[in-house]
Amino acid sequence: MEQKDIHTHIFVYGFEELPVEFRQLIEEAKEQTKKAYAPYSDFRVGTAVLMENNQIIGGNNQENAAYPSGMCAERVAVFYANSQYPDVPVSVVAVAAFHSGDFTIMPVNPCGACLQVLLETEMRQQKDITLLLYGKENIYVIKSIKECLPLHFRFF
Ligand code: THU
Repeated sequence: MEQKDIHTHIFVYGFEELPVEFRQLIEEAKEQTKKAYAPYSDFRVGTAVLMENNQIIGGNNQENAAYPSGMCAERVAVFYANSQYPDVPVSVVAVAAFHSGDFTIMPVNPCGACLQVLLETEMRQQKDITLLLYGKENIYVIKSIKECLPLHFRFF
């Protein structure tokens, strides 16, 4: 028997310590929460995607009375980016969430399904995607989706 340990590298920043382009992307993710449709959870998630050509694409969660029919903010944004600009790599994805009248104190982590979709985008473009996960107290910067989902599903 052999034990295998897997480590995730998370860089924890204060907002003011971040480079300006990361701060701008986070501001856009926060702005995107305002357009979320989240009447059932009151958990408004916003995503801003920075493409390699410096274009920014926003998205937010879209809920539905038939609950599973809704869609997370990250997948709304990344599927749109991939559908409209399949040849432009995704460089950075910022995520923020607004709940009970304020932004979350802790950074928001994308759900497993969103990570799997982000990971496939990363594999497809053969370039790492940086994740910026916003929380009021600090921001997590993660340099590849593989860090979050090391045991991801893939066809061999
Ligand atoms: N949600 C996201 O938008 N992104 C995630 O990664 C996890 C959860 C949404 C789905 C639902 O509309 C609300 O947050 C509460 O789960």
